Amino acid sequence: MRSINRRTFLHTAAKTAAAAGATSYLRPLFGQADVQRSPNDHIQLALIGAGIQGQGDTKTAIQVPGVKLVAVADCYDGRLTHAKELWGADIFTTRDYREILSRPDIDAVLIATPDHWHKQAAVDAMRAGKDVYLEKPMIHLYSDGPEIIQAAQSTNRILQVGSQRVSNILYSKAKELLTSGAIGKLNMVTARWDRNSSLGAWNYSVPLDASPETCDWPRFLGTAPKVPFSGERFFQWRKWKDYGSGVAGDLFVHLFSGTHFITGSHGPTRAVATGGLRYWKDGRDANDVLLGLLDYPEGFNLSLRVNFVDGGEESEGFLFTGSEGTMEITTRSVSVIRSPMSKEPGYTVSTFADAMQKQYVEEYRKKYPVVHPDGPPPRNVETYVVPDGYSDSYDHFHNFFNAVRTRRPVVEDATFGFRAAGAALLCNLSVERDNVVHWNPETMKIV
Ligand SMILES: NC(=O)c1ccc[n+]([C@@H]2O[C@H](COP(=O)([O-])OP(=O)(O)OC[C@H]3O[C@@H](n4cnc5c(N)ncnc54)[C@H](O)[C@@H]3O)[C@@H](O)[C@H]2O)c1
Repeated sequence: MRSINRRTFLHTAAKTAAAAGATSYLRPLFGQADVQRSPNDHIQLALIGAGIQGQGDTKTAIQVPGVKLVAVADCYDGRLTHAKELWGADIFTTRDYREILSRPDIDAVLIATPDHWHKQAAVDAMRAGKDVYLEKPMIHLYSDGPEIIQAAQSTNRILQVGSQRVSNILYSKAKELLTSGAIGKLNMVTARWDRNSSLGAWNYSVPLDASPETCDWPRFLGTAPKVPFSGERFFQWRKWKDYGSGVAGDLFVHLFSGTHFITGSHGPTRAVATGGLRYWKDGRDANDVLLGLLDYPEGFNLSLRVNFVDGGEESEGFLFTGSEGTMEITTRSVSVIRSPMSKEPGYTVSTFADAMQKQYVEEYRKKYPVVHPDGPPPRNVETYVVPDGYSDSYDHFHNFFNAVRTRRPVVEDATFGFRAAGAALLCNLSVERDNVVHWNPETMKIV
């Protein structure tokens, strides 16, 4: 057993026999920072946007002790019906989330609408006195960011953005490893999210009863351009920029959140991106391939890619490259390979005359004596794995509800959320402008 740090205490469940490698299982944070509370002290939660993520989030949120779901708002009747099927007939349901916000018995709301509703629903909720768990990406438009931050400050409400990987024990471990110098000076991060399926490319099922009667189309549209009812637009909204922000807002944002959390950076200063619609030419206006390159003021570069036409296995992950090694993060593990750069300059003398080669090597070895006469030491590989069934969403909700009780800061507040989503949208902007774009991560403004 070895102790790594206080919060993400690790216990060694397995160690490989190889002298140079070790695998440890990370222990979840579940319940470790629970606030003392009486059995009657529960948080009353309402869900706004009861689609795929809203229902999944809610199932996780109500596993946190002392959290009760009391109301659900959604624009499709079938999802309101299913909310009652899932959580009981006494759940209050409505198409109009303002009916939820006007109820004094609701403490917090979980917002999982399409992106173009995030700002308005969050601001309305905070003004109505509710704490907010707001799904990523925090913004749809740049102007959303300052409005959400200002509303959280002026109403003194808790706002947690829903990039749950920020609460993942793997990411805490990665941050700790990086900070401790495990890979030396960070020079480069590469991040990827590759998909290779129709569902991965956002072609979610449209229910057979989808119609203007069962779907509140005007409410769904909100401030988006008025167009005739479309089941595809309603249920596959990510495919159109009017409601989502493409792969940048959907997936890059997770990669930015992870990079910012692990490195502690506030964000990039410069971005250039390219991409296109390569395969899913089904009427969508959002690209299915996007590649971004970014400069960070801490002295490293980030390169990211998302593609929906992979032709291979679906995968996501990061590679952090430092002067002394690399750190790889997958969905289940973080591994560090320590390979410090040699302190010797090395020599390339084989093309010189034999006598010169001999003389050169003799002189070289006087200056740089052999350190490892039996050959270089084996590579040092450490791997940390999450246990089966681990849920970073649970930890993220746990963090949110603790903040609701204690009024202490969350792990992913509105400023963090804006910095991550703002950085992601730089890539869209670069493609649109066909140019390099500059961003000030401190003021969170396009330069
Ligand atoms: N954190 C994650 O890993 C993760 C994963 C998936 C989705 N998300 C985010 O969750 C959000 C929802 O995504 P989804 O896949 O669940 O979409 P979805 O289409 O399945 O669900 C969205 C729901 O919002 C409802 N809605 C639309 N406008 C509304 C309004 N004004 N008031 C109330 N309800 C409204 C729709 O009727 C729909 O049922 C998105 O912002 C997405 O980026 C996050």
